[in-house]
Amino acid sequence: MGKMIRAENLTYTYAAGTPLAIPALCDVSLSVRKGEFLALVGPVGAGKSTLVQHFNGLLLPTRGRVLVAGRDTRRKEVRRRLWQLVGLAFQYPEQQLFAQTVFDDVAFGPRNLRLPSQEVAERVFEALEMVGLDPQEVRELSPFALSQGQRRRVALAGILAVRPEVLVLDEPTAGLDPRGRRRLLGLFKDLQRCQGKTIILITHQMDVAAELADRVIVLCQGRIFRQGSPREVFADAGALQEIGLKPPLPVELLSRLGIPEVALTLTEAEMKIKKRRPNF
Ligand SMILES: Nc1ncnc2c1ncn2[C@@H]1O[C@H](COP(=O)(O)OP(=O)(O)O)[C@@H](O)[C@H]1O
Ligand SMILES: [Mg+2]
Repeated sequence: MGKMIRAENLTYTYAAGTPLAIPALCDVSLSVRKGEFLALVGPVGAGKSTLVQHFNGLLLPTRGRVLVAGRDTRRKEVRRRLWQLVGLAFQYPEQQLFAQTVFDDVAFGPRNLRLPSQEVAERVFEALEMVGLDPQEVRELSPFALSQGQRRRVALAGILAVRPEVLVLDEPTAGLDPRGRRRLLGLFKDLQRCQGKTIILITHQMDVAAELADRVIVLCQGRIFRQGSPREVFADAGALQEIGLKPPLPVELLSRLGIPEVALTLTEAEMKIKKRRPNF
């Protein structure tokens, strides 16, 4: 798989060069492969949101560089097209809805692509269906008439309608009920599996990272603390606890039972427990 995103010695300081400078990222080097599902985890303030805003050119490195599809985000002509390639859903994306109707909101991106109105409509309908909304039912509604969960889905539909190759999701399920959460996470996994999209998911739920990701990067205090497969990263539950992260439940279960193995799902944990303790 080719490299989709590379950060090379990325350092970012808010208000750099002023007395109020706040270092947020320090010498971060990483790459994201095309088609992979990357989970980005770490304590609050670790720099996760700052990092991903570099992936669509919203922030530019204070030092180092970021390449998307091989192109340096510091170049203006690269940045101008980046929104088509990398769709970024902020935390609480529903706060950025602005149009009069759901249709117009979701259509904003496709219209900016200057697509014919027929195709704009097709994309809007498809995207609304993907996020589990009935297009006919919601298209003429004001986004503000919807519940928070529905607004969140409208906002995500607006990003999906552009059909970016990379989807960056900053805590996309925060504040949703468990059903809405499962549904969205399933959608992201499907987009990777069936459409080959590259998914970068920021989450504070280690269980989600363990279950869905091909690779996990742990950030802490603006630096990469760990990276590897979920199995590698979650094998060291103690290290994660040291920085205040709760290991995934299946990992914790085995560790409490004194079984020196890693499980990423509850089913796997159950199998490993039964093997060791047939009478459990
Ligand atoms: N707009 C901003 N202005 C100044 N400092 C910021 C801003 N956004 C984030 N920070 C600071 O940068 C650091 C990293 O924050 P952030 O990237 O939001 O971390 P995370 O998403 O992992 O919680 C924190 O110290 C935070 O206070
Ligand atoms: Mg954040």
